[in-house]
Amino acid sequence: MNDPMGVGPSGKKRILTGIRPTGPLHLGHYAGALENWVRLQREYECYFLIADYQVSDFADDISRVRDAVWEVALDWLGVGLDPEGSSFVIESLVPEHAELTTWLAWFLPVGMLERNPTLKAEMEAIENPEDGKTKGRSVPVAFYTYPVMQVANILMPRAHLVPVGEDQLPHIELTRETARRFNREFKPIFPEPEALVGRVPRLVGTDGNAKMSKSRGNTIDLKDSRETVAKKVRGMYGGPPRGMNEAGKVDENPIFLYLDAFDPDHALVAELKERYEKSGVGNKELKERLTLVLNELMDPFRERRAKYEANMSLVREALEHGTKRGRAIARETMELVRDALDLNYLGRY
Ligand code: TRP
Repeated sequence: MNDPMGVGPSGKKRILTGIRPTGPLHLGHYAGALENWVRLQREYECYFLIADYQVSDFADDISRVRDAVWEVALDWLGVGLDPEGSSFVIESLVPEHAELTTWLAWFLPVGMLERNPTLKAEMEAIENPEDGKTKGRSVPVAFYTYPVMQVANILMPRAHLVPVGEDQLPHIELTRETARRFNREFKPIFPEPEALVGRVPRLVGTDGNAKMSKSRGNTIDLKDSRETVAKKVRGMYGGPPRGMNEAGKVDENPIFLYLDAFDPDHALVAELKERYEKSGVGNKELKERLTLVLNELMDPFRERRAKYEANMSLVREALEHGTKRGRAIARETMELVRDALDLNYLGRY
């Protein structure tokens, strides 16, 4: 192999990114990450990972994970990821991820993990659930290893770029530190990957909460029907109560955050905002506009998804072929890692 950090036979730099299979994906995933994946998929050699080693929180409900693997694949196909040009990889079917995790665990200090703010917040949430009613669980060992595994995920295809949501940035920083250390102490084989956050780093939920998330039940899912979208938008939080034709503050009404994020007609949104602050615009009008805009964005998702749902063997092929390609580059990297760490014990005699 020429330069392990450089481009391979495709002549393209590599992307690795992933999502945990926990259920259907929503507009927050789209605006925060998926949109970038679709945009960059031809420019880069892409590995899109379904991170099923990373769902220890659903260990008591594996059937949900299994269903979600297919859901995620369908959502990806729906938004327009091309499973031939890029690789859909099921993480646990590339066991090299577990292997590299074990080697990396030799070198990464626990303190590095403890400083990771995403991890801290998640552990806190496990021990003290947000609703304050359910009793907390104890933190599984997998919680200490999953950030190491995420580093292994990114290093595995020797990725140059990691397009993700904002909450994933600490993991990428950890990956960069790891790549630097490994390259310095052993052999230079890993590019130091860059993070790329989407246009809308954090989308508010339909209830006005700062983050759209399944656990809060405030999502608009990529697979929602036109009617479901209309219903969810009708039920959206639209700022503090106002009388008919009463002016309001744009930044108190999250519907505008959605229009900013998704309405391609910027002039119209600017006009609505101006009118809203001067003479008032009813939430009904804003919601009708938003429904139209979202359904127009999502119609092509629905069409593509329906095509695949009618022929699930195509989805299986996408997963099979992608995972095979993911494994091929993983094997290549593990050769490099074993060589760098000088692990060829049997070569001695
Ligand atoms: N932690 C990511 C999430 O919760 C999923 C993920 C796993 C990932 N491995 C990754 C993201 C590697 C980017 C790169 O969605």
